[in-house]
Amino acid sequence: MNSIIPFSFLEIYAKKSTLGFQNTYKLFKIFITLILLSLIFVMIGCSIEDQDFIPPIEEPNSIFKILDKKKAVLNYRNHCGGCHGQDFGSFVERSWKYGSTPEAILKSIKVGYTKNGMPAYNASFSDEDLKDLTNYILSEIEGKTKKMLEANNPTLSGLIKSDDLSFRLETITDKIPGIPWAIEQLPNGELLITELGGKLFLIRNNKELVEISGVPLVVTEGQGGLLDVVVHPNFKNNSFVYLSYVIANPNNVSEKTTAVARAKLSGNKLTQVKKIFTALPYLSTDRHFGSRLLFDRKGYLYVSVGDRGHRDKYPQKLENSLGKIHRIQDDGKIPNDNPFYNRQGAISSIFTYGTRNPQGLTLHPVTGDLWEGEHGPQGGDEINILKAGKNYGWPVISYGVNYDGTSFTNITKKDGMEQPVYYWTPSIAPCGMAFASGDFYGKWENDLFVSSLKFEYLHRLKMNGNVVVGHEKLLNKIGRVRDVHRGTDGYMYIAVQGPSRIIRLVPEQ
Ligand code: HEC
Repeated sequence: MNSIIPFSFLEIYAKKSTLGFQNTYKLFKIFITLILLSLIFVMIGCSIEDQDFIPPIEEPNSIFKILDKKKAVLNYRNHCGGCHGQDFGSFVERSWKYGSTPEAILKSIKVGYTKNGMPAYNASFSDEDLKDLTNYILSEIEGKTKKMLEANNPTLSGLIKSDDLSFRLETITDKIPGIPWAIEQLPNGELLITELGGKLFLIRNNKELVEISGVPLVVTEGQGGLLDVVVHPNFKNNSFVYLSYVIANPNNVSEKTTAVARAKLSGNKLTQVKKIFTALPYLSTDRHFGSRLLFDRKGYLYVSVGDRGHRDKYPQKLENSLGKIHRIQDDGKIPNDNPFYNRQGAISSIFTYGTRNPQGLTLHPVTGDLWEGEHGPQGGDEINILKAGKNYGWPVISYGVNYDGTSFTNITKKDGMEQPVYYWTPSIAPCGMAFASGDFYGKWENDLFVSSLKFEYLHRLKMNGNVVVGHEKLLNKIGRVRDVHRGTDGYMYIAVQGPSRIIRLVPEQ
């Protein structure tokens, strides 16, 4: 009996559960069938909808197929994105000047508009590359708006808006080891870059960085090192390059000064290196060497030299080379029409005096005047227009004070001493400077751009003739800006430190 009850109970349970299982199985089969059917319907539905959304393969808009997309992407990134925006910003919603058909665009890329800043790529790209690039650009801008791009691009990598012009930053190189100090563009578009530590680099038009050998030995202590570089106005025919740099006194290596050498650039080498200028005396301090170099329109070479930290001893006296701007011939000889050429005891290369630490020199693009920029002590950074034989007043007159806040002069003006065009208090630590010129930069034309080491930005002085009428702070916090250079191609280039970069300012087209 004991066993009957559980048996019958189990049997009933088993029957019930078998029945239950069979029912569930049937229901499950129906359920699965329904799901499969509905999936098929959905899939059919979707594919119909998809077909509605896919635009017909862009036959009318693309006469070529992209054969090598990887290459097109790379070509765009390396050759075009810097000027036209890596996000294709300058092409999105563009009113095309030379036509928007694939044929017209391909032609633009091939032939270029070199006078307006658009290089020609017929030599660098094959016809296949050009077709791929054209199609790649067209496919990337399809359906995009400027608004969409702006939402993605709030940083320095996108379009930068200044008061009067929108522009982009194109990094030409970020591979300079050390501190890039000066930029000079050759007539063929290649760039020479000095590096404070003593190296000279050439950046080829394909952005390859090449070190130039044969640079004279430089002393790299404190503010000293390899400083400026310029090429001869007739570089195309004579290949002459000029360097300013710091050298040691051959009789006492603890003393140094600023010197200038001329050399021929042949391939990746400097040859026939010859020292053509030495600022005397040699001193043991390692600051205020200057130094910029500049050719004027008559072919004279100007060399700026700082006071070496001895303001009371040198800048106001003509018997030494320190705290002065010098004027020499392209071979180092002294022109006999220099202002102090016949003055007894005076250094005959002196053009102007009374200068602290001049690290900016540039020609005005309209008047051809020489403009100079110099570091003040604490405040009193100055921009001056240089005139033969004039005294710029340092340290008798100044708008600055000592670094410890005490003053060393009460006067800012004096007869016989020149007033600056502009001064900064507090200091911005101005280094290289250049005027924008030509049609490239619209309302920036003839405005002066001054680099700021201290506040890490580019200062735009809005000019009306020789008068400063406004200011704009550009590229705030970009890094210490050492140099601004207007290239032979019309573009403005800047040298930035931390991290080291050479950057081209490309106006939005
Ligand atoms: C150094 C800057 C620079 C670089 C690099 C550059 N462009 Fe340009 N591009 C310009 C400028 C400036 C213009 C406007 C020329 C004009 O207005 O005549 C332009 C114009 C064009 C145009 C004609 C636009 C129109 O309105 O019809 C096309 C297409 C073009 N560029 C494509 C390219 C492609 C593709 C590359 C890369 C292979 C490239 N550009 C590289 C500066 C540049």
